Amino acid sequence: MCGIVGYIGKNSAQNFLLRGLKRLEYRGYDSAGIVTISDSSEATKLRAIGKVSELAELISKNHHNDTVGIGHTRWATHGKPSEQNAHPHQAGDVYLVHNGIIENYKDLRETLKDHTFVSETDTEVLAALINELYQRDDVKIEDAVTQALKLVYGTFGIAVVSTREPEKIIVARSGSPLIIGVGEDETFVASDASALIGHTDQAIYLNDGEMAIVKAGQVDLRDLSSQPVSMKVETIETNLQAVQKQGYEHFLLKEIMEQPDSVRSTINGRVIAAEHRAQLGGLNLTDDELREIEHIVIIGCGTAAYAGQLAAYYIERLVDNVTVEVQVASEYRYRSFHLPKHSVALVVSQSGETADTLAALREVKRRGVKVLGVVNAVGSTIAREVDGGVYVHAGPEISVASTKAFTSQVTAMTIFALQLAQAKGVGLQEIDSYIEELERLPDEIQSVLDAKQDEMKQVAKKYAAYEHALYLGRDTLAPAAFEGALKLKECSYINANAVPLGELKHGTIALIDDRFFEVILVQDNWLFEKTASGVAEVNARSGHVLAITDSSKPIEAETIVRIETKLDLLVPLVLNVAQQLLAYYISVERGNDVDQPRNLAKSVTVE
Ligand code: M6R
Repeated sequence: MCGIVGYIGKNSAQNFLLRGLKRLEYRGYDSAGIVTISDSSEATKLRAIGKVSELAELISKNHHNDTVGIGHTRWATHGKPSEQNAHPHQAGDVYLVHNGIIENYKDLRETLKDHTFVSETDTEVLAALINELYQRDDVKIEDAVTQALKLVYGTFGIAVVSTREPEKIIVARSGSPLIIGVGEDETFVASDASALIGHTDQAIYLNDGEMAIVKAGQVDLRDLSSQPVSMKVETIETNLQAVQKQGYEHFLLKEIMEQPDSVRSTINGRVIAAEHRAQLGGLNLTDDELREIEHIVIIGCGTAAYAGQLAAYYIERLVDNVTVEVQVASEYRYRSFHLPKHSVALVVSQSGETADTLAALREVKRRGVKVLGVVNAVGSTIAREVDGGVYVHAGPEISVASTKAFTSQVTAMTIFALQLAQAKGVGLQEIDSYIEELERLPDEIQSVLDAKQDEMKQVAKKYAAYEHALYLGRDTLAPAAFEGALKLKECSYINANAVPLGELKHGTIALIDDRFFEVILVQDNWLFEKTASGVAEVNARSGHVLAITDSSKPIEAETIVRIETKLDLLVPLVLNVAQQLLAYYISVERGNDVDQPRNLAKSVTVE
C-alpha cells in the first residue's frame, strides 16, 4: 500500500519520480505528490487528488530540473483522500513520504505544540517530530530521523529530504518495503523494483530496522542506531516489457492471457517427466525431512488463501498421511494456534509484502516451525524471511486483481505435493497422473483462452447488469468458486459470494431470487449428478444459472459455457480461466476502472 520513490543525481528528479509513481500506482491511487529541491535549496511541492495522471498534469505546468526529490502515491489510512492529506508532508525544512502506519500518532501529536497541523494523517506527525528534533543547526537530518524513529511505533517505509541538506535523501524501513537502486552518479529509491526498471538493475533491498543516507551514486547503509551495516547489491531480473501493457487495453487482460507462459515458467525445470519426479530447488529440506512432515498449514490472504485451499486437496490426495489446514493470515496471526510436531507452514503471497501474511509467518517461525514461501515477487520481505520455498515465477502482476499468480501458486504447490509424495514413497502411477496434467496445463489454458474469449465477452453482456451473484462448486471446484466470486466482486462491484454447493441448503439458498445469477462450476466426474441436482434446486427458485463445465452432458442451465479439456485433476484451473474472463468483461461492460478497482491496492502492507 502506498508507493514511494526518490531520486538524487544529475538528471531531472521530476522525470524519474513521475515515471516511478506511474509504475507504483497499483500500490495506492487516491492521491499522489512529489517534492523536489533546487540548487538554491528551494522546495517545489506538487500534490494532486486522484490518480498519478492528475499529478502529471500539475507537473507539466510546473516543470523543474531539480536533481533531488521524493514522491508518493497514496492508499488512504488516516484521513480521506484530499490534497492536504496527500504526501509529501512538510514540517519546517523537512519533507517526508511514508508507507505504513504510525500507531502512536495521536499521543505524539499532543506533544508537538509548535507545529500547526494541516492534515489528518499520522505521517505529518512524524514529519513534525523529525523537524522538532532538527531545530539545532549542528543536528544532521539523518540523526533527527533516527531519533524520531525511536519514539514512534508502528510500521514505516520512509523517504525524507531537507532543504537544509539537499545533497541527501534519508530512507528507513520497519515493516514496509524499500529498495535503493544504484546507478552511476545517481541513486534511486522505490517501494519495489518495478519503478527502477529501465534506470538500473542494481538494487539494495533494505531489511527491517535499517536506514540509509542516499547521495548521488552513493549509499551509506546503517541500522536504526546508526551503526554501519554491510550492503548486498542484487541484480533485478525483471525486464521492461513485463511491466508494460504491450498493446492490451488493461493489465488484467494481459495477465489473464499470459497464463500459458507464466505456468510454463512455474513448471520449468521442476517437473521431470522422464524421471517421474518433481524437484523444487529452494525448499532447503532433505528427503528425510520431507518424509517426517505430518502436518501442513497453508497461510495467505484473499486469492493466495484460495490457491492454498485448492492446493490442499491435491496435497491430501497425493499424500495420505499428511493433514493439511488452510488459514487466513489476518486471523491466524492472533490465534492461540498449536502446530503439532513435524509441521511445516507454506506461506503464500504474490507480492511477498502482505502485512498479515508476514506477521503470521513470523508467529509460526517464533514457535520453531519451519516456514516455506510460495512467493511471486523476487527479493520481497516474505521471500527473504522464510526458511526456504519456491518462487512461482509468474512475472510482475500489476493489475490489482490477482489472476496469473493464483494459477502459478496452485501449480507450485502441486509440484511441492509431488516432491513430498516422492519422498514418502507414493506410487509412480499417481505421481505420473499429476505430472502429465501439469505438463499439459499451459496448452490447456491456451485452448480456453483461444476458444472462449469472445464467448465470455458475450456472456458478460448478459450478466453485467445483475447486482448479486452466487458462485457454487463442489470438491476442488469449491475453492475455485470462492476465487471466482472474489474476482467478480473486486472488479465489477457486483455483490458476489460463494458457498460450497453442498452448503447451499444450509441457509444461503434463502437468498436466491430473480435478482441473482448463479455461477455453478460443474465437473464431469463422480460428483456430476450431485452437482446437477444442485443446479435443479437453484432453477426451482427462479435462479439464473450460468454453468461453467468440462462436461458435454446435458445441464439445465440458463447459460452453459463448455470447456473442452483433457485435464481431470487440474480442471479447476481451466474453469477458473473462464471465470477470470467473465470478471474482466463484466467490469469492462460496467465501465469500471479494471486494473485499479475502487478502495483497493495491490500490495496490502498495512494491517
Ligand atoms: O500479495 P498477496 O498474494 O499476499 O496478496 C493477497 C491478497 O491481498 C490478494 O490476493 C487480493 O485478494 C487480490 N486483490 C485478489 O485478486
